[in-house]
Amino acid sequence: MPRSKIAGIGFYVPENIVTNNDLTRFMDTSDAWIQERSGIKERRFAHRTKETTTTMGVEAARIAIERAGITPNDIDFIIFATLSPDYYFPGCGVLLQRAMKMNHIGALDVRNQCSGFIYALSVADQYIKTGMYKNILIVGSEKHSFGLDFSTRGRNISVIFGDGAGAAVIQPTEKENQGILSTHLHSDGEFAEVLAMYNPGTHANHWSDKPHADFEDKEMGEMFMSHAMIEKGQNYPFMDGPAVFKKAVEKFPEVIHEALDDNGLKTSDLTLLVPHQANLRIAQFVQKQLKLSNDQVFNNIEHYGNTTAASIPIALCEAWEKGKIKEGDLICLAAFGSGYTWGSVLMRW
Ligand code: COA
Repeated sequence: MPRSKIAGIGFYVPENIVTNNDLTRFMDTSDAWIQERSGIKERRFAHRTKETTTTMGVEAARIAIERAGITPNDIDFIIFATLSPDYYFPGCGVLLQRAMKMNHIGALDVRNQCSGFIYALSVADQYIKTGMYKNILIVGSEKHSFGLDFSTRGRNISVIFGDGAGAAVIQPTEKENQGILSTHLHSDGEFAEVLAMYNPGTHANHWSDKPHADFEDKEMGEMFMSHAMIEKGQNYPFMDGPAVFKKAVEKFPEVIHEALDDNGLKTSDLTLLVPHQANLRIAQFVQKQLKLSNDQVFNNIEHYGNTTAASIPIALCEAWEKGKIKEGDLICLAAFGSGYTWGSVLMRW
């Protein structure tokens, strides 16, 4: 059975750089607070009307496809991960298929937030191994800037997130010292409401002791999103930051060890860990726990913030462009986020 490899990778971030000081124009925050708690110095925000989650995904995909030495018409399956889609439905996969004038191939959308790219890669890996597809395009893209509360009310969340996209082409490889060795996926829905955007949705306050929305219980045509919800800011994401932090520093090391143990490898064997860029403090904590050197961990959250489904492919691509990844290197990707969902991928480049 062949293994799957990343044959081409690309990323795209919008031109517009938004510094921490820029955010102080909208909310009560400071550069010092943001840097101290998250390590973030700046992030990119997409053009409000000219760029969408899909168009950024297309930009990243073009680079990945070109680097794989193929054309958009060679792609035989699309997997698109995002939590900030252009439309509630249909997903971004079909919009990308249309924008890139691809054949009428399958397009799957993944809704696993920060773990989205890991889940997408894991699905692609299975299709490649079974021989069903030969050139799978996976994309992670987010336009967070369109859906955050930039008033002081939303500051614990809105200072962390940024926009951008990353993409990869997955192909089979027969080389012995190359390809994905294993993928490991997990979830714990007990914490679904700890980091979530409840509205718009069909929950009608069903799932928790704490109501997520003000709505009138009409017999027919219940409101998916009402004026009352918008007035109270119930259309924005919610995050219990300290709770997420605590769980993240537990699950990251766990799922990285799971990947290494499964392959009879040790942390010292790792060339590079590319963790989801949630918060620099989380990544530093994980590095310390795993006793990894600075050279063994790649972070770029300082410049892009947390780009959720895009963060791993952006970081992986930047690390590769900087010459930090070479053929045969042992690379671990790991993510944790909303759901909770978490996972890892171990591969030889
Ligand atoms: N600027 C200034 N002050 C802020 C602020 C901001 N942007 N956001 C929150 N604060 C204030 C709070 O109001 C609170 O004030 P109080 O003590 O007077 O009540 C204080 O700072 C501490 O808030 P807290 O939420 O406890 O901060 P924290 O140390 O936990 O840091 C996060 C907040 C969000 C940076 C941190 O919890 C975190 O990174 N968690 C993980 C989040 C994450 O990774 N999410 C993505 C998942 S993949």
